[in-house]
Amino acid sequence: MTITDNILYFDACNTNELAEQYGTPLIVLSESELIRKSNEIRDDFLEKYDNVRAVYASKAFLNTAICKIINREGLGLDVVSGGELYTALHAQFPAEKIIFHGNNKSYAELKMAIEAGVGRIVVDNASELDLIAHLTSALNLPVNILFRITPGIHSDTHAYIATADKDSKFGFPLETIPSAYALAEKSPNIIPLGLHFHVGSQLQNTTAHLSALDVALGLIEQLHDMGTRVFELNTGGGYGVKYTETDTEMPLRDFTDPIMARLKSWASKTGIDRPQIIIEPGRWLVANAGLTLYRVGASKHIPGIRTYISVDGGIPDNIRPALYTAKYRAVIANKMQAPLSEAVTIAGKCCESGDILIKDIRLPQTRRGDLLAVFGTGAYTESMSSNYNYLPRPAVVLVNQGHASLIRTRESYSDLIRRDIVPKYLE
Ligand code: LLP
Repeated sequence: MTITDNILYFDACNTNELAEQYGTPLIVLSESELIRKSNEIRDDFLEKYDNVRAVYASKAFLNTAICKIINREGLGLDVVSGGELYTALHAQFPAEKIIFHGNNKSYAELKMAIEAGVGRIVVDNASELDLIAHLTSALNLPVNILFRITPGIHSDTHAYIATADKDSKFGFPLETIPSAYALAEKSPNIIPLGLHFHVGSQLQNTTAHLSALDVALGLIEQLHDMGTRVFELNTGGGYGVKYTETDTEMPLRDFTDPIMARLKSWASKTGIDRPQIIIEPGRWLVANAGLTLYRVGASKHIPGIRTYISVDGGIPDNIRPALYTAKYRAVIANKMQAPLSEAVTIAGKCCESGDILIKDIRLPQTRRGDLLAVFGTGAYTESMSSNYNYLPRPAVVLVNQGHASLIRTRESYSDLIRRDIVPKYLE
């Protein structure tokens, strides 16, 4: 990010020109930043440790072009639905590098995954294991699986994105793993390779990962004593990013080194071979590669209370402030060198009082037509977007050292009614 003549440049692209050319709201993704993060994964994890792999959790931001970038950068892909899998396969993402997650995969989704030859299915519960046993024998196709465990630990994050408590919809209760493993081993086409946990998202330290790791290692010892070898341990994602001044920017190694150190000492203490370790960062890779450009519209001042500045998007393109009270940083992209004035509140344009993007932020004097840039919107914004209030979804443009490429078109009004059908008697 740089500033020239009062204008914000993102990956050397003039944000005002991007907004003019592609319209607003506009999601801008920096390919250079995606490459920088992928290089960090390569240097500080993949090449630093033996027998490790990294996959990108595509639910954070998925698109055909993104799949191409992730594959080019040498990462695998985590998908959680038939739709995500379809997109990955459409982008010619190598099936063997895909990991399929989800707590309620349907018969059709599992069939699609097994027929495509995905690398791993992370089985979430006993009922799914039954379904897979049935499917693999009907199809006579093999499948590699991991068991997702519920480690039963607390993660210090928003309750909606904490996933490791004992009372969670995700994963096998720990005590059921030995029998599930034994069952899987009896199924001729199921190849049980190991375990998976994911403790939660936007974590600012490794406490939860390390607690879950200890639980998983205890289980691995138990299975080892029963004569079962665990070849792989997938430790999920959850690495937090810096959204505002109060968050800390943590490099990948701050998360992964403590995990790898704990594994090393465990292996030498127990004499059990360390399993292959897999990580699944989503947010960490894409959040700060993204920003959203909005055009400022109406504003109003409530004397003695606050000033509202409204923009042309909101909940439909970023539900995170309303859903998780998520905080973001923003600037006026065409007044980068102007002095800051009183704090204002940025409102979205939806008919919801909760559609507030940022509360109490200091910006320069702002008026209709200015361009607001909200930082850190690469993760879980576009992927959670909706057409609430029938706002067409924004376009997405990929920028790289001054070059811009449209990677998703803006929805049109006709897209909004594309699936509507009027029954004959109403015509
Ligand atoms: N692996 C599994 C199995 C997951 O369920 C997730 C995220 C990840 C990896 C990637 O987690 P990350 O590295 O991105 O934290 N919509 C929420 C986040 C939900 C995360 C769901 N699972 C938000 O906007 O904060």
